[in-house]
Amino acid sequence: MRRMTTVTVIGCGYLGAVHAACMAALGHDVTGIDVDERKIAQLAAGQSPFFEPEFPELLQSSLASGRLRFSTDMAAAAGNRVHFLCVGTPQRKGEYAADMKFVDAAMQSLLPHLSDGDLVVGKSTVPVGTAARLADLVDEAGSGALLAWNPEFLREGFAVQDTLHPDRLVYGLPAGDAGKTAKDLLDEVYATPLSDGTPLVVADYATAELVKVAANSFLATKISFINAMAEVCEATGADVTLLADAIGHDTRIGRRFLNAGLGFGGGCLPKDIRAFMARAGELGADQALAFLREIDSINLRRRVRMVDLAREVCGGTIVGKRVAVLGAAFKPNSDDIRDSPALNVAAQMQLQGASVVVTDPEAVDNARRAWPDLAYADSMTEAVTGADLVLVLTEWQEYRDADPEAVGELVAARRMLDGRNALDPARWRAAGWTYRALGRP
Ligand code: UDX
Repeated sequence: MRRMTTVTVIGCGYLGAVHAACMAALGHDVTGIDVDERKIAQLAAGQSPFFEPEFPELLQSSLASGRLRFSTDMAAAAGNRVHFLCVGTPQRKGEYAADMKFVDAAMQSLLPHLSDGDLVVGKSTVPVGTAARLADLVDEAGSGALLAWNPEFLREGFAVQDTLHPDRLVYGLPAGDAGKTAKDLLDEVYATPLSDGTPLVVADYATAELVKVAANSFLATKISFINAMAEVCEATGADVTLLADAIGHDTRIGRRFLNAGLGFGGGCLPKDIRAFMARAGELGADQALAFLREIDSINLRRRVRMVDLAREVCGGTIVGKRVAVLGAAFKPNSDDIRDSPALNVAAQMQLQGASVVVTDPEAVDNARRAWPDLAYADSMTEAVTGADLVLVLTEWQEYRDADPEAVGELVAARRMLDGRNALDPARWRAAGWTYRALGRP
């Protein structure tokens, strides 16, 4: 019989809410805490504040098991053994650096509730050096609690599976006996994935913090690499999708994360590479990460290129053109619109005089709140009706499956821009569409 641990999850956003429900599913007794009363009320009622496949079911079954509850009161952490810090570290306004105010506030309000033998576990993505600084705070408070760093690698859209069956676990531990005690507790928490054979990397604080930003930097680099190749393909008439297939067969390279298109967005990759550059600068290692500035520029350039391509296929101008944008979320199977390339392109086109209508299977409500000046449609049919140009900017399955003939009946002109290389060009061209994509002839 596995031992049950009493667990606090502080911060019930994307990461925390999923982590809390998964910890309960693993058999632990979990309290999720957040300062946002509305979010806590929703979660406690079994409603997900965001779209995430599998999460609502898991949340409801965990609540029903009696092993999961939510609170806005940090005092609810008292008496638990393990306290996960899952609050956000957004990009600071006008700067590259991460804003640490939520981490610092959560830590300060947790400190009075810690006891001897407790373990604080950082999961948020933070500038390297944060764990050591927070460990000092825990020490100074004198409770006898310890601190570990345990970065989270979940992807939106696969958050539940990624948490229950992670690719690897990483522990950043203090030195000596404290490290041994912290490891034993974490092993207890993760007994199920560990016994399923999940690889474990045990490291110091700084390495564990760096694993997360290094992984995200590598992923961003892979995407911008293929998008840089797409730029060269556009200049030569080559096809970046075939190029990616061919180089991806080399197992040293691999095909995943080589999908050329509009590039990366979301709440992680863009802000994480910027915060990493900012932190490296503070540490005097900015030259080492100078390439990430280029990764960021390549990524942002794709958005501009998309608008240029729209102008090109519309005969030199998009002024007054009715444009249907399919996709608002930063990627499919998510309603997250943070740093969404699709919405950025839609807004640029509107600014340049096009009449833009955006649709998305899940993200329209979020998009409407963040970008109230754009026009929205509740369905693809409504969005494309009368359009002079259609753009697929988030590759939802519904758009991949669209029938060129049926869509063609609704539009004013059969012009398709595939911003994600998600459609079959031959199929759309056969139905009389002008089909253009990034990195393809
Ligand atoms: C990412 C990391 O994958 C995850 O490990 C980390 O914990 C958080 O950040 P996420 O932000 O959910 O996860 O999205 P991801 O699936 O990585 O996609 C990021 C962006 O890259 C999306 O906008 C996606 O459309 C884009 N992308 C991805 C590409 O443009 N091409 C690809 O080949 C892959």
